[in-house]
Amino acid sequence: MRFWLRCRGCGREFEPEKLPMCPECFEPLEVAYDLDAIELDRERLASRPKTIWRYRELLPIRDHGNVVGMRVGYSPLVKCENLGRELGLKELYVKNEARNPTYSFKDRPAEVAVSKAREFGDEVVACASTGNLGASLAAYAAIAKMKCYIIAPYDIEREKLAQIASYGARIIGIEGTFDDARRLALMASEVLNWNVVNFTIRPYYAEGSKTMIYEVAEQLGWELPDHVIIPVASGSLYCMTHKGIEELKALGLVGEKRVKLSGAQAKGCGPIAEAFEEGRDEIEPVKKPNTIAKSIAIGDPYDGKYVLKRARESGGYVYGISDEEIREAIRLLAKTEGIFTEPAGGVVIGMLKRLVEEGKLDGDERVVCYVTGNGLKTMGLMTPYVHESLVKIRPTIEELKATLG
Ligand SMILES: Cc1ncc(COP(=O)(O)O)c(C=O)c1O
Ligand SMILES: [Zn+2]
Repeated sequence: MRFWLRCRGCGREFEPEKLPMCPECFEPLEVAYDLDAIELDRERLASRPKTIWRYRELLPIRDHGNVVGMRVGYSPLVKCENLGRELGLKELYVKNEARNPTYSFKDRPAEVAVSKAREFGDEVVACASTGNLGASLAAYAAIAKMKCYIIAPYDIEREKLAQIASYGARIIGIEGTFDDARRLALMASEVLNWNVVNFTIRPYYAEGSKTMIYEVAEQLGWELPDHVIIPVASGSLYCMTHKGIEELKALGLVGEKRVKLSGAQAKGCGPIAEAFEEGRDEIEPVKKPNTIAKSIAIGDPYDGKYVLKRARESGGYVYGISDEEIREAIRLLAKTEGIFTEPAGGVVIGMLKRLVEEGKLDGDERVVCYVTGNGLKTMGLMTPYVHESLVKIRPTIEELKATLG
């Protein structure tokens, strides 16, 4: 067998069926591969199309004919000369996922999930979402002609709801938090037999996210960065970054190296950051998230304890970034690098800035920031700043001159 499931907690192994978590210890399951049997070298990879499927031996789809879309992958790794200079960092990069097909990194797990759903013969897909996964899943379900249900907090950004609705999915708006949406989605998976991609087939879905770090390594000429800063909601992208690094090392595609993995959360919903900062092992769920970073507002993160453990082991940090810092960071990235991100990218750049200010980053370190979503999806947040730039005049040269002062 090319791949199977392995429990992250107890190590038990299972057939690659629909299994959301370990039936023995309830810890997360991961897809395991026979890495010794995989023959992948840099030259072979270089000749392949620039989508996530260039790493197909490391993705959990048996028959490539089931792949839906083939749209996402190889987003730009932008060398940030201006921002780097401003912060005193020689080698700063942004992995820019704002340009993906539906404008967030969620296209990676969603493309794998819908392909896997097709492989399982499903005609309905669903998810619990804070907005971005909903948009991605709805788009891929439209391509695959599957029925799609998105369960999300009713008060997420209108831009995201409009996007999801345009793809034709049914949106179930919850009076409550993401955790309430997740609980309902789990019930729907049992009672209505929905394939809830971030529960029913979570181990396969999660695999899509690790392709970001594969690309980073390849884009750096098959070298790993020193430090990666990752936005954390459920902690899946963070854990998959760690898994991806271990796989690249095992395949000999990169050399041995300890990469610091830092997690960025919002202060108004930062259960992992609080545990990290207070030196606790237990994560206290946040009951009422209160932040502008709605896309990462998950009060009870499923992979939380693994994020905490891996941050400590790798020498990284987990911080909670305030709404004010997030807004400032969104503008800083836009003004220095021309990249317009939503608050999930703002927490990452805010955290980068904080790490520099606290002297926790060495100016020579090669740092990669994951900018995972597009600012156009949260336009409402930035409109209060428009007046700082906008003047209204009659179209005459006199008024123009008068305005310029
Ligand atoms: C833009 C964006 N970045 C990062 C994340 C974090 O994802 P994860 O649940 O994998 O931690 C999310 C989750 O919804 C997101 O929408
Ligand atoms: Zn287990």
